[in-house]
Amino acid sequence: MREYKIAVIPGDGIGKEVMDEGIKVLNKLSSLSGEVEFKFDNYDWGCEYYLKHGKMMDEDGLEKLKQYDAILLGAVGYPGVPDHISLRDLLLKIRQGFNQYINLRPIKLLPNVECPLKNKDSDDIDMVFVRENKEGEYSGVGGILNEGKEDEIAIQTSVFTRKNTEKVMKFAFEFAKKRNKLNKVTSVTKSNALNYSMVFWDKIFKETSEEYPEIKTESYHVDATSMFMLQRPETFDVFVASNLFGDILTDLGSVLQGGLGFAAGANINPEREYPSMFEPVHGSAPDIAGKGLANPIAMIWTVQMMLDFLEEKELSDMAMEGIKEILKDKERLTPDLGGKATTSEVGDFMCQVLENRC
Ligand code: NAI
Ligand code: MG
Repeated sequence: MREYKIAVIPGDGIGKEVMDEGIKVLNKLSSLSGEVEFKFDNYDWGCEYYLKHGKMMDEDGLEKLKQYDAILLGAVGYPGVPDHISLRDLLLKIRQGFNQYINLRPIKLLPNVECPLKNKDSDDIDMVFVRENKEGEYSGVGGILNEGKEDEIAIQTSVFTRKNTEKVMKFAFEFAKKRNKLNKVTSVTKSNALNYSMVFWDKIFKETSEEYPEIKTESYHVDATSMFMLQRPETFDVFVASNLFGDILTDLGSVLQGGLGFAAGANINPEREYPSMFEPVHGSAPDIAGKGLANPIAMIWTVQMMLDFLEEKELSDMAMEGIKEILKDKERLTPDLGGKATTSEVGDFMCQVLENRC
């Protein structure tokens, strides 16, 4: 029996609802396989915890999380707690503290999902973002001077280190090689306006590309990239982008794959010196929280990415096949996809489908 210890942080709003379905699917996969067992520990950290305790997670939170094979996170964010606190004191703390310098976000339109672009189908939309995940524009370096005064100043500095940028670029090239789709890496830049950080980014991209002569390269400014993603998505394979650019473009990408209800993500420490963290791209969606309306597919896809990372290929393939199967019938889907099912019914359908296919 292979056993994995998983730390579960459902967070706030729909984070909790979709997490239940992710766990349901993992338990089903475990019982079907008979060879893999997941041991879950729940942590009630997040905004509601903050309102009670004045902090987003325990002081020794990272120490506690260190012992796990992986972390599953739902979403954080709650009216009444400023977003910069909820993001920085939990998510970014884990991403930075555990050197999860890669944020991997697949953008793939699955069969039977409607694409908002005319004449494009699932063959055309299949790309992956490799987003730098711990520094860049989200380094948290800066300050406010003369607060509240007429001459108030806000400074937010981007930080790009050679060591980290090189590792991110290398990861993207290796990933393109392994994926073996178009064998291409597209770098997202803005070196015309950001004359230090992005000129540096371009330089490291070029240097790294020289080690991978078999991989094609291209580089576009972020504004043009957003346009090309809509105009000719089929020409893209692997993107490498800074923290901010990757964050923005992957929300755009989620629309190409059918909405935020499909957008999965992984925060990876490739060296495996710390646990990696798996979380859907969407937030806590206070507008639909508590109503059973949240689409859990992004969470289930996120679980699939975790299985992939844990090298449980068979289970990971089963999860992906299960997602594709439930998409064949609208009745089994949530309202954002035109169905009438609740969040928990989608999880139940998914389990049924897995059971039937085994
Ligand atoms: P959001 O992703 O929570 O919601 C955006 C829109 O998409 C809403 O209309 C929502 O109902 C819909 N939506 C999102 N996920 C869905 C799903 N699974 N099924 C069906 N519909 C879905 O982003 P928003 O509204 O900008 O932020 C809400 C809160 O979440 C804020 O506090 C924000 O800081 C936080 N947030 C947290 C993230 C995280 O924990 N990783 C990521 C993004 C936002
Ligand atoms: Mg985002």
